[in-house]
Amino acid sequence: MVDRPYVLLSCGMSLDGYVDSATDTRLLLSNAADFDRVDAVRAECDAILIGAETVRQDNPRLLVRSADRRAERVARGLLPTPVKVTVTARARLDPCGRFFALGEVDKLVYCASPVLDDARARLGHVATVLDGGEPVDFPRILTDLHARGVSRLMVEGGGTVHTQFLTAGLADELQLVVAPFFVGDSRAPRFVGDGRFPWDAQNRAALAEARPIGDVVLLRYALSDRFGEQ
Ligand SMILES: NC(=O)c1ccc[n+]([C@@H]2O[C@H](COP(=O)([O-])OP(=O)(O)OC[C@H]3O[C@@H](n4cnc5c(N)ncnc54)[C@H](OP(=O)(O)O)[C@@H]3O)[C@@H](O)[C@H]2O)c1
Repeated sequence: MVDRPYVLLSCGMSLDGYVDSATDTRLLLSNAADFDRVDAVRAECDAILIGAETVRQDNPRLLVRSADRRAERVARGLLPTPVKVTVTARARLDPCGRFFALGEVDKLVYCASPVLDDARARLGHVATVLDGGEPVDFPRILTDLHARGVSRLMVEGGGTVHTQFLTAGLADELQLVVAPFFVGDSRAPRFVGDGRFPWDAQNRAALAEARPIGDVVLLRYALSDRFGEQ
């Protein structure tokens, strides 16, 4: 029996593999049509997970934007937008940030065991703060999310988080969007960091789809035999 959610990784990157610029200004990699596609993918998920650095740097809303899609979810008996999830070792997160302040949904913070009390003091009034282990353990998080009714999890970065899901073999699908420009600055964050990935030159990932969307291209990879599960 499968005791973890279907895990879909979603990321946009430049032609040279960067997911942001090296400056404080957030880099928009996708176009309007692709942002709308991502919104549709979000609407089909039960929860969306991002790393704490993305919470801090991007201050994302992490909501389903389309009113029609929110209404469809409600008609299906769901909350208008998926549960928001983040992971942190230090718990230095702003409770007034948009991740916590927006959306009538649960916000789950999995933190490292040693900072649990601090994290509850800082964030307990805006989120459910949970012990993620020491170090925070993604299989444990996935089992807990599954027990909370999350069947489909979207992981929206950043690279530190994507790297761990991929190297641990915990991803079922990768949706990678390539934007038609270069960042050209090695101080900028990349799609993934160093690691031993299950896919290398001898074991190539299965490309399930390549779709142009305006000036970007969506690459969908099947990373497990659960690929395509709804
Ligand atoms: N283009 C895209 O699609 C996209 C999407 C998302 C993000 N981004 C970009 O990615 C950048 C951020 O990526 P990033 O790699 O620096 O950070 P990240 O993956 O967003 O977050 C890393 C942080 O998450 C926490 N964390 C991750 N794994 C953990 C573990 N096993 N145990 C405990 N805590 C853990 C730690 O938080 P603490 O530091 O709090 O301990 C860590 O510093 C930003 O520039 C953002 O704009 C781009």
